[in-house]
Amino acid sequence: MASLPRTLVLNGPNLNMLGEREPEIYGRTTLAEIENSCREAAQRLGLALDFRQSNSESELVGWIQEARGSAAGIVINAAAFTHTSLAILDALKLTGLPVIELHLSNPLNRESFRRRSFVTPAARGLICGFGPFGYVLALEAMAHLLQDQG
Ligand code: DQA
Repeated sequence: MASLPRTLVLNGPNLNMLGEREPEIYGRTTLAEIENSCREAAQRLGLALDFRQSNSESELVGWIQEARGSAAGIVINAAAFTHTSLAILDALKLTGLPVIELHLSNPLNRESFRRRSFVTPAARGLICGFGPFGYVLALEAMAHLLQDQG
């Protein structure tokens, strides 16, 4: 049997604190619970899932570089690095893989410094504002992109 296309779901800084972190913005769902719903969605969609979180920009860049040879696509919630990291943008671009930018909240209706994204120029699309359900939507979108790609 052919192996399932692997989707790397990357989570940036402070997302390990979901459930406790500013629940009025990010809700009470933990990252482990989000990972579980991603596993269910990936199974239903015929994707292999690699779900990771790091507080380190360097570690995230390393994982993105590695994805070049091993993943079919990347879903990324780069958290605060979204607004600061040219290194993450460059890494995403060098992979040549389809990238979906993801946020739990809608950064466009929050503080003005959240309106600039260094991920958007590398992204095929953006999903934001739907809380944890956005992760499932992003996997649906990735399955669709990969199917179209053949
Ligand atoms: C976030 C939005 C970012 O602005 C913020 O820095 C985060 C989380 C989100 O998922 O809504 O850490 O990416």
